[in-house]
Amino acid sequence: MEKLSSVAKALAPSPIQELSFLAQRCNAINLAEGFPDFVAPAHIKNAAVSAINSDFNQYRHVQGICDYVAQKMKEMHGMSIDPLTDIVICCGQSEAFAAAIFAIIDHGDEVIVFDPSYETYDTCIRLTGGVPVYVGLDPPYWTLDPDKLEKAFTDKTKAVVLNRPFVFERVNGKSCVHSPHNPTGKVFTKDELEVISEVCTRRDVLAVTDEVYEHITYDSRSHVSLASLPGMQSRTVITSSLSKTYSVTGAYRWRVGWAIAPRCIASAIRNIHIRLTDSAPAPFQEAALTALRSPPSYFETLRSDYESKRDCIFELLVKVGFKMLFKPQGSFFVFAELPETCSLSDVEFVEELIKQAGVVAVPGAGFFHGDGCCSRRYIRFAFCKSNETLSAAAAKISELAEGDGRLKIFEHVFAL
Ligand SMILES: Cc1ncc(COP(=O)(O)O)c(C=O)c1O
Repeated sequence: MEKLSSVAKALAPSPIQELSFLAQRCNAINLAEGFPDFVAPAHIKNAAVSAINSDFNQYRHVQGICDYVAQKMKEMHGMSIDPLTDIVICCGQSEAFAAAIFAIIDHGDEVIVFDPSYETYDTCIRLTGGVPVYVGLDPPYWTLDPDKLEKAFTDKTKAVVLNRPFVFERVNGKSCVHSPHNPTGKVFTKDELEVISEVCTRRDVLAVTDEVYEHITYDSRSHVSLASLPGMQSRTVITSSLSKTYSVTGAYRWRVGWAIAPRCIASAIRNIHIRLTDSAPAPFQEAALTALRSPPSYFETLRSDYESKRDCIFELLVKVGFKMLFKPQGSFFVFAELPETCSLSDVEFVEELIKQAGVVAVPGAGFFHGDGCCSRRYIRFAFCKSNETLSAAAAKISELAEGDGRLKIFEHVFAL
């Protein structure tokens, strides 16, 4: 039956899905997927239960969320956003992003995306008939080459996609703008971020940002939205959600997120959202009101808890012999490089890790879209897990270490 669309055909099962089945069969500890395995905050769960019991169970648009989001953007970034016209509540960042792409991209429009990147952008862009154009970041520090970016622009370029939080780092009282990147945890330097905003402005191109990790930044950095850079608010669509900040993601995701955009784009996103899903789940929208009012201590604890988890897993990966030149500065992923001595590809390594250690991570290849030479050399570990899960995984991985502390799998030789 050859009746599938070309996009559907391109979405054939990947080796990652097979690894997922293997991991389930081996009952492996999950350091693959980006969802917390610890309990969600009680005050937010209670608000959801109470909303269900109060019969907030029908199609619903809770305007209060837009008011809180606008207030938060004012406090965090000094941006003035009209909650009535410029914010659309969607089913998570995923729907907000898809609706934003549908709102601005026509068949044949080109969209610049950094490589490696979060997988779903590519599919969303292709679903609209848009063409993703990848700009490879240069390892090991995932730096942006301004010439490569400039060369990627053509007369058909409509937008640039940026993901992960943008942060201001205060060093000796001075502020610098940065932007951590998925899946590497890479942080764009101030110069790099200014290059992106300058070229967007000069070429009259839109930016679509994914800011789901806006509260998960490390080493005293705090998030700043690209839209708050001079000239950018009028050309940026911001997407974000409750998922990561309030630990209501993955298998338990609550599907409440938002798009913030100039009025005319927000209106188009709203129309598309209504046709796609009508409204985000009503009880969870009610709970979002409670979540968004969480005290500053909630965000401080979230950040410091994740920072210690990052340090633990990073040290473990260094100890067992990964090439760890870059420490993540935001999000809850580590992108670890296989050492030169390891002859396995990323997929083969993860397969061995599942079989021998009972731990599953994600092969990096799925995040690369260009023909980068290094695309088979990275493994992504998620550390949004309980300390018990992380300790158990660390113990199992350490058991595979040899006398010199390095993993035996790195020296793995396949039987002929
Ligand atoms: C960069 C990024 N954006 C978006 C999402 C999904 O967000 P949501 O659950 O709000 O759809 C994820 C989840 O893994 C992510 O890593």
